[in-house]
Amino acid sequence: MKTAVLASETDFDGWRVAARALRLAGVEPVAARFVVAGADGQGGLFDIPYSAHPRESGDERNRDEFTVPAAFVDLARDVILHRSADRFDLMYRLLWRLRDEPDLTKVVSDRDVADAMERARNVSRSSHKMKAFVRFRQTHDAHGEAWVAWFEPAHRVVERTAPFFQRRFTTMRWSILTPDGSAHWDTETLSFGPPATRDMAPAEDEIEAFWKTYYASTFNPARLKLKTMQGEMPKSYWKNLPEAALIPGLTAASQGRTEAMVATPAPAPNARFMRAVARDLHAARPDAEVVPADLAEVERGVQACRRCPLYRDATQGVCGEGPKAARLMIVGEQPGDQEDLAGRPFVGPAGQVLDEALEEAGVDRVDVYVTNAVKHFKHEPRGKRRLHRTPDAGEVTACRWWLDAERRLVQPKLVLALGATAGLALLGRKPAVIRERGQALTLDDGSVGMLTVHPAYLLRLPDRAAQSEARRAFVEDLSAARHLIG
Ligand code: URA
Repeated sequence: MKTAVLASETDFDGWRVAARALRLAGVEPVAARFVVAGADGQGGLFDIPYSAHPRESGDERNRDEFTVPAAFVDLARDVILHRSADRFDLMYRLLWRLRDEPDLTKVVSDRDVADAMERARNVSRSSHKMKAFVRFRQTHDAHGEAWVAWFEPAHRVVERTAPFFQRRFTTMRWSILTPDGSAHWDTETLSFGPPATRDMAPAEDEIEAFWKTYYASTFNPARLKLKTMQGEMPKSYWKNLPEAALIPGLTAASQGRTEAMVATPAPAPNARFMRAVARDLHAARPDAEVVPADLAEVERGVQACRRCPLYRDATQGVCGEGPKAARLMIVGEQPGDQEDLAGRPFVGPAGQVLDEALEEAGVDRVDVYVTNAVKHFKHEPRGKRRLHRTPDAGEVTACRWWLDAERRLVQPKLVLALGATAGLALLGRKPAVIRERGQALTLDDGSVGMLTVHPAYLLRLPDRAAQSEARRAFVEDLSAARHLIG
């Protein structure tokens, strides 16, 4: 067994150097062990045949240099922040396999890859919760006003998340204390210190009262959805949130009097702090209703979107692409397996059918803004495959926020819906596609829409004759769309 000692639980650089040395020395995953140094923090490599010149040792095979995809490095950086004890081993196992399976990180059905991606998602969620639920309390020290928060993140995300607070609260001195370590900002330098305990953070102040009033005044009993609320604000975080003390009371009071909004005006204990908090809330709540000002904001919003649960199992959100002033917008259903991996719409088999039909209809895809009604891939695992599942009306409605934003920003002359789901998103009702196809329809904002079949429908038809007839009709609809945009 070869052992590498890492300087800390989050020592990604140490792991990277050690893993590389082990890999070059041909140490198989079962024979490699990563341990974290004791409190003295003395890390470093020992017990492994590490050499600054790995080419000089080992047999021919082990001397090969190898590179890993940037996506793997990013994945490892996240996974190593996971609290699981075997995370270093998992990533070393993946690194080991990468040389013979260079595309391994794209095989999301692989057990190790899926496991790593799930852990990375947990880490990312934990960082998000930290952004949303850290509550600073005001203190004073020899240098004046300072803000201190106590927080217990699910994973070791303090260092990763601290730059967010640096950007949000640039002009204020603050510290975030956690059981893993602490982060400090003195308005010039971000630094990290040792683990803390809850009693090191102040317990009560006027900001506490502000949070309680703020929460009470924004609490809308008519919208009470306990499950969603607990999903967004998990109970494990409640004990550190001043406003959480109000939740049981507000919840009980909401029953039977949904119109009676709690309307206490929120006091402003510190204007500067409150401005920063307002910005913070906007940035931290991914579903905040901040209307995107451009397509780049749509992209960022989609990646952070939690409007429905589909983001959980998708690799990423897939936004539309194409000219920002395209005359034609084509709306599909949702990204498929390949689109989910590539992060681009219509690049898989249905995309190929669409591309060919567009070409035949005389429409250049580069002039078209191509997007989907739903931005995350809905699927279920079946063996090594991920099988498409049709998004439901709730998911379509939730995602309409992004489609509407794309329509408002691109302002196409014509929006062409491919299939029933896209039709539902645009018309607000499930259309009879075959009956209504090819005609100009007026959409809710007065713009012009049209329906046609989804290209995947052509792929599903049983025989060649039916396929070529359906294909001809599809090209005809695309040609009609071309004529409508002039
Ligand atoms: N099907 C769709 O509806 N959209 C895509 O992006 C790919 C397949």
